Amino acid sequence: MMTPLRDLDFQAVVLAAGKGTRMKSSRVKVLHEVLGVPMIGHTIRAARAAGSSRIALVLGHDRERVRQWFEEHDDVRDLRIAVQREQLGTGHAVWVAREALGGGAPYTLILYGDVPNLSAASISAFVEAAVDSGMPLAVMSAVVEAPGAYGRMVRGASGALERIVEFKDASEAERAITEINAGFYVARTDFLLGELDVLMAAGADNAQGEYYLTDLVRRAAEQGGALGWLIEDVREIQGVNTRADLAQATAYATQRINAYWMAQGVTMIDPARVHIEATVTLEPDVVLYPDVYLHGATHLCEGAVIEHGCTLRDTHIGRGTRLLAGCYCDQAKVAERTNIGPYAHLRPGADIGSECKVGNFVEVKKSRLDDGVKAGHLTYLGDAHIGAGANIGAGTITCNYDGKHKHRTTIGPGVFIGSNSSLVAPVTVGEGAYVGAGSTITEDVPRKALGVGRGRQRNVEGWAE
Ligand code: UD1
Ligand code: CA
Repeated sequence: MMTPLRDLDFQAVVLAAGKGTRMKSSRVKVLHEVLGVPMIGHTIRAARAAGSSRIALVLGHDRERVRQWFEEHDDVRDLRIAVQREQLGTGHAVWVAREALGGGAPYTLILYGDVPNLSAASISAFVEAAVDSGMPLAVMSAVVEAPGAYGRMVRGASGALERIVEFKDASEAERAITEINAGFYVARTDFLLGELDVLMAAGADNAQGEYYLTDLVRRAAEQGGALGWLIEDVREIQGVNTRADLAQATAYATQRINAYWMAQGVTMIDPARVHIEATVTLEPDVVLYPDVYLHGATHLCEGAVIEHGCTLRDTHIGRGTRLLAGCYCDQAKVAERTNIGPYAHLRPGADIGSECKVGNFVEVKKSRLDDGVKAGHLTYLGDAHIGAGANIGAGTITCNYDGKHKHRTTIGPGVFIGSNSSLVAPVTVGEGAYVGAGSTITEDVPRKALGVGRGRQRNVEGWAE
């Protein structure tokens, strides 16, 4: 988390009442994810990291689902939710939030919930500049090549910001202005609350019949000035209205997070093809091949190598462990210097020790493999405990499910399970025991014993004749 440069007391309003029709989704727009976190989560976290004391969230459609996301994955204690039933414009949206906000902090920051890449560092710099200016209102702006339908920043001869004109209300000359309104503001709270009442009383007299928050800029210009604060990297202010916008925002977020991890000592063979969610943590000398997806609370220790096409969710990989191509791991744990894959499936509760080998087409679920276990090929290990150094032959299956209940398989240290064996749980194979290839083991095998459970071979001489 970044700490603000100095103690600036501000609160925030995040506007997110828009339906997001152009996403063509049953899910409300701000819950669409960028690097595993909903867009609104990125905005709220950036506001918090910049030092916002409390946050009013203006929601319309599907507000319960948004609240639920914060309850389940984040925090709601500093959030106040305000409901805007009809979207009458940005001015109306902030006005709706006035009670949720209260007069709490001397400054109020206004953000949108569909701009996922605005960084805490930029927010901090913006708030600082606003406070330092001594003006009642500051607006974040950017200079862009294609200003499209953005509001235009109208500056006077001296360069001072006079007003913002919306595209639909703008003259040809105003439309030629390339400095646009990003849509984020820092206002002195007393100014904001007073002027919102004035705005609402005046009515929505413009091309769109909306209450424009931008009208406050002219009022501020008349009362001590309005600051236009330019952000350099326009990618930070890109809003998301369509799936294409979402992909673009994700590409930028990916670029940024991957640059961060490379700076921390992680090697990426092709960073454009590595996908690391915001919640993942990595140690130096991790190596990531292309088409690796790291989700949730995944952590990779020093020197872990993740080859092409692996997906890891909430998974811990120990020092120097290697995942060969094509592995899928979900809520799994692997200790040090172990080799997994290619094409292994580690399911929830897979807990694999050091210097193990889990080879191709091996599936492990809710099972502990102690250090040095080898399960090289085509195996299912579920609800099992496998002792140190045991060797699990190709095609071994723990039959853990009788159709109603799951049962445990216990395999002692140093056990050798011959290929193509079925271990019908509950069953225990004692320390150092052997199981003959092709066995179906339904009874415990004592330590050091050989268990064989299969039909005896019969050769019928001359049968083919
Ligand atoms: C607004 C600005 C425009 C600026 C642009 C930047 C106004 C009048 N215009 O455009 O100058 O260039 O943002 O993107 O403010 N929202 C609500 N309730 C509403 C209206 C909007 O919650 O009634 C939310 C939307 O969900 C969205 C954000 O506010 O997150 C911006 O709304 P949008 O309609 O995209 O912006 P404009 O008003 O067109
Ligand atoms: Ca609009």
